[in-house]
Amino acid sequence: MTAVEQARALIARMTLAEKAGQVSQAFAVPFLPPVDQAVAEGRLGSLLFVPDPARINQYQRLAVEQSRLGIPLLFGFDVIHGLRTIFPVPLGLAASFDPGLVEQAQAAAAAEARASGIHWAFAPMVDIARDPRWGRIVEGAGEDPHLGSEMAAAQVRGLQGAAIGTPGRVIAGPKHFLGYGAAPGGRDYEPVSLSDAEIRNVYLPPFEAAIRAGAGNIMSAYMDINQQPAVASKSLLDDLLRGELGFDGFVVSDANGVQNQVAQHFAADEAEAAARALLAGNDMEMALGPNAFARLPELVEQGRVPEAVLDRAVERVLVAKIRMGLFDHPYVDEGEAARVLAEPAHRQLAQQAAERSLVLLHNREGALPLTPGAARRVAVIGPLADSVADTLGPWVFVPDKAETVTVARGIAERLAGVAEVTVEPGVQLRRAIASGLEAFGPPQRAWTDAEAEARFAAAVTAARAADQIVLVLGEAQSQSGERASASDLKLPGEQLALLDAVLATAKPVVLVLLAGRPLDIGAILPRVPAVLMAWYPGTRGGTAVARALFGDVNPGGKLPVTWPRSVGQVPIHYARSHTHTPDRAGSLYHDAPSTPLFSFGHGLSYTSFRLDPPVLDQPVLAPGGAVTVSTRVTNIGTLTGDEVVQLYVHQRAGRAMRPARELKAFQRVTLAPGESREVRFCIDGETLSYWNASERRTLLDPGRFDLWIGTSAEAELHLELTVA
Ligand code: BGC
Repeated sequence: MTAVEQARALIARMTLAEKAGQVSQAFAVPFLPPVDQAVAEGRLGSLLFVPDPARINQYQRLAVEQSRLGIPLLFGFDVIHGLRTIFPVPLGLAASFDPGLVEQAQAAAAAEARASGIHWAFAPMVDIARDPRWGRIVEGAGEDPHLGSEMAAAQVRGLQGAAIGTPGRVIAGPKHFLGYGAAPGGRDYEPVSLSDAEIRNVYLPPFEAAIRAGAGNIMSAYMDINQQPAVASKSLLDDLLRGELGFDGFVVSDANGVQNQVAQHFAADEAEAAARALLAGNDMEMALGPNAFARLPELVEQGRVPEAVLDRAVERVLVAKIRMGLFDHPYVDEGEAARVLAEPAHRQLAQQAAERSLVLLHNREGALPLTPGAARRVAVIGPLADSVADTLGPWVFVPDKAETVTVARGIAERLAGVAEVTVEPGVQLRRAIASGLEAFGPPQRAWTDAEAEARFAAAVTAARAADQIVLVLGEAQSQSGERASASDLKLPGEQLALLDAVLATAKPVVLVLLAGRPLDIGAILPRVPAVLMAWYPGTRGGTAVARALFGDVNPGGKLPVTWPRSVGQVPIHYARSHTHTPDRAGSLYHDAPSTPLFSFGHGLSYTSFRLDPPVLDQPVLAPGGAVTVSTRVTNIGTLTGDEVVQLYVHQRAGRAMRPARELKAFQRVTLAPGESREVRFCIDGETLSYWNASERRTLLDPGRFDLWIGTSAEAELHLELTVA
């Protein structure tokens, strides 16, 4: 019997209530009413937020041994950048420009999840985000559809393996379909308006890539898009996702997304919300508290929802359970979980991922790397210097905190025996406004005024006594992520005052930033010789940062987002269209340049590279053909290092205006001093085609195209290609 036949045979035996149960998912968390009874009665098909194998087995026993049909539960969890071993946040992983590494990281995360009894990760988040005010920019791969697609596919391959049911892997659930990242003003959950062309050319490609990689689940988005909640959008879910993209897995709503249609003043009541979500193509409801899909039996009885539509949703959920092997092996081996969660290879991989995600933003006169032992007394100062939570970042629930290496700890370990390391936070970072998610992790106690004064003074004293200062500033974990949008990009809290006080000591300073978004550091750059962007680097983040600061590794990550000069430039991204005055030297503002502080793709190294003028194997792309552009990259410095060679394209004229530049390919290479490598990129019709709004189809415009090869969106080595 195929999985579908097996599912159908089961559906034939199910009551309407049991069917509604299979498409209902509940949070099993201590601060909500228990779900045991509902599981035992077959009123729930899936649970989320249970990371503990023993509890997973308990719930599973209720489902398998007590519910009438014994259908096992599917356990989902937010495994976003690791479970026990925490990898850099997804924006940091994207900065590695290394899809192979990202695939490995997610495979390790999947192994830990699966060993814990989790079957499904609500990841990757593949929302394109072009506004760093949006807190959730940290969860995705940034602003670019091509990089986003590469990262989306890599994460799906890592999480899920070659097919659903691969041992040691979980179902991948790319989210949030669609357009969540376009939140105006960066305000989380705000209604989004997107043209069809933006949907197709910008926001959809990472989902397409994820689906091509085999993603078994998709999560629909919360907000409304073009005046309709995404969860109720038949044109998005049934027509675009399933019809056009051929997605054949199951769609889950975001948490309470079904019920929210009432709050959004779209559905009149909960029953209507349930009907609309299901009819639009949403197969499972994720609910915090009572679920709207419990109303489905009555909706079917009243003829408001055809039973066949409910059956189709149930079938998709059951097929996922069958493919995951849950009917044969519903339980998890609790002993095995402990072993996999402690896997040293995962920690090693986390360190490598953190090292490869570091972006050296700025390095005047080779201020970095520092020489170990050159300074006898090193002060590591800042609110993020020794904070475990802020080293790990958001979406982390069961990390091993004791083994998490903060930047301060990493430096102390690196300098053991050669320098004395002091650590002072100086100031405390706290949200100004609570998130409403405090039940998941209550905020830290606020310092009293006296404590604040004493801590600040202690930091200044430590700075004065040091020969070298490493400042670790940025945003706290609670200031990044969901419900953590920001109206300003300046360093939050009293960090600028701390920076001023530390710089006033006139001691040598380098700055490490920990944050989930680009911050406004334009005024700081002239005052500090070096800035290393470390994102939230994860379990081994401090080791990675220390190794980079002291030259054991050479930073080679690149920015997956354009870095604005100030919040007033936002939204800003490199792939804009030309205006009628495409004068790059001038500005579209009267008070500031319109160029960013750092371009997309920017990232320095301790060594330097030369790129040879690129060559095309043919000047004309014939119909159905392909051309190859190649260049040679040489390490002309004295240290081994990494460069990311990037290819950008631009269409000179056609049936639509296309971006002035679009990334189409990249490759990260590691080269020893003097070593060189040829990098080749293939360009075919698909590379240069786009979705055209007037013709409502993907097409390729013949004519002249610019190609640039370089090491950021400012790439200058130019070629011309003609498309016949
Ligand atoms: C988020 C999702 C997440 C879900 C479950 C929601 O608030 O938008 O991304 O997977 O919660 O935690």
